[in-house]
Amino acid sequence: MKSLFFLFFYLVITTNVSLNGSTQITPLISNTTKKTCLFHYWTVYIYNEIKDPITVHVQSGDDDLGNHTLASNDNQNWSFCEGATFKTLFYAHFYWNSNIAFFDVYNDHISDTYCTKREFRKPGRCFWLVKEDGFYVGDNLRPYTKLHDW
Ligand SMILES: *[C@@H]1O[C@H](CO)[C@@H](O)[C@H](O)[C@H]1NC(C)=O
Ligand SMILES: *[C@@H]1O[C@H](CO)[C@@H](O)[C@H](O)[C@H]1NC(C)=O
Ligand SMILES: *[C@@H]1O[C@H](CO)[C@@H](O)[C@H](O)[C@H]1NC(C)=O
Ligand SMILES: *[C@@H]1O[C@H](CO)[C@@H](O)[C@H](O)[C@H]1NC(C)=O
Repeated sequence: MKSLFFLFFYLVITTNVSLNGSTQITPLISNTTKKTCLFHYWTVYIYNEIKDPITVHVQSGDDDLGNHTLASNDNQNWSFCEGATFKTLFYAHFYWNSNIAFFDVYNDHISDTYCTKREFRKPGRCFWLVKEDGFYVGDNLRPYTKLHDW
């Protein structure tokens, strides 16, 4: 009953905002946007643990972060507010020499299963490690899980 009321309350205060789950990219350094997220605030990190540079291209339905070349040990990270309908999705293409990989780097399932737990007022974090034998995801606290091959 309590949680129903809470849900109702959330719906009321968010009705005029965005109910279609669109995402908003916010610069990581901006410290104020974190406080204005109605729902959870997330940062996703992609680390290149290959000895060669790789190119990463992250996109969502609303945003195209463009091609980023990551030197060995470099990372790309971006932050966003979780959509009100919890349908936030980012996918990425990865290029390493002649290898190409393509998959979701952030969605509800990934976030619920591998990233940091949703805690009130605590920003969420997901980490991807790109290695020669594939792609690993985790919260940087528990062991990483390999989800994809090249
Ligand atoms: C979702 O919302 C954005 C702006 O908040 C709007 O531009 C877009 O057209 C909406 N998409 C749908 C499918 O309603
Ligand atoms: C947020 O801003 C405050 C004051 O401007 C600063 O002290 C704090 O370190 C910042 N936090 C982060 C995570 O950048
Ligand atoms: C991104 O880089 C890849 C690999 O170099 C290339 O095939 C692709 O066309 C580039 N995409 C854009 C939008 O520049
Ligand atoms: C996140 O990316 C920015 C560049 O967009 C970089 O300056 C920063 O060091 C990165 N964060 C971490 C923890 O490496």
